[in-house]
Order: sequence, then C-alpha cells, then structure tokens
Amino acid sequence: MAAGLKASGLLLLCVFALVACDDGSVSDQQDEGVAQPAVVDQPGKQIYQKWCISCHLNGVSSAPRLARPEDWTERLQRGRSGLIQSTIQGLGAMPPRGLCRSCSDEELAQAVDYMLGTLPEKPPG
Ligand code: HEC
Repeated sequence: MAAGLKASGLLLLCVFALVACDDGSVSDQQDEGVAQPAVVDQPGKQIYQKWCISCHLNGVSSAPRLARPEDWTERLQRGRSGLIQSTIQGLGAMPPRGLCRSCSDEELAQAVDYMLGTLPEKPPG
C-alpha cells in the first residue's frame, strides 16, 4: 500500500517534469525562428557560433562576453585591429585563431566584428 502511494507520487512528478520540458522546448524554437534572418547579414555570426561561443558565451577563463560592455572596457583601447591581432595570435587562455585553424584572417575579423557589434561602444580603428 505504502509503496503504491509512493509510486503514484513519482508518476505525478514525472508528468509535471514533462510539462515543464515541453514549455521550454517550444519557446526555444520560437527564439531560433526570430534570430534566423540576422545570419544572412552577419557572416561573422556563423563563425562565432561554431568556434568562439564555447568560451565567449559564459566567459570561460574570463573570455569577454557578448553584449557585456564591462568585459570589454579595457580591451577596446587596443582598437579593432588590435583585437583582431589578439585573436589571430592567441591571448592568455585563448588559443591562436580561437581554435579555428581553417578560418582566414578575414573570417576571424568578421567574427570579431560580430562580437563588437553587440556592444554599445565601438573601438577606435
Ligand atoms: C578556448 C576558449 C576560447 C575560444 C574558443 C575563443 N576565445 Fe576569444 N578569448 C578567450 C579568452 C580566455 C580571452 C581573454 C584572454 C586574456 O585577456 O587573457 C579571449 C579574448 C578574446 C578577445 C579580446 C582580445 C583582446 O585583445 O583583449 C577577442 C576579440 C576574442 N577573444 C575573439 C575570439 C574569436 C573571434 C573567437 C573565435 C574565432 C574566439 N575568441 C574563440 C577564450 C577563447
């Protein structure tokens, strides 16, 4: 009897969990739908999402995050070309070319431009 009650309680929990998961996946799909058109305008976005996002999304080893001006304040003084240079050569915990050995300098510059485009302030040069 007691075991039966426990089992039905578990079953209820599972049902709730399923409902919660369903909600999550539905809104995820909607987000993707909205973001889609921007990819065409921003070639750097695809490179960012393939190669750079793993560290730069959550700031792994203090990698500067997108749309977080406070992560970039000092870095912006290096200027756009300085930031691209850091990416090509590697900097601190960031490996050369941000791990994308097949990316051209131009593609890395596009990825940096995409990242900088999420900030309110632009670097000099
Ligand atoms: C393995 C993790 C990792 C990957 C992958 C990675 N980065 Fe980074 N990135 C970092 C870290 C950590 C820093 C901060 C380095 C420091 O200041 O010591 C950084 C810093 C930067 C900076 C600032 C450089 C500066 O001069 O301050 C830029 C721009 C940048 N990354 C661009 C990119 C781009 C573009 C890619 C993808 C092509 C990429 N990163 C991939 C970890 C990563």
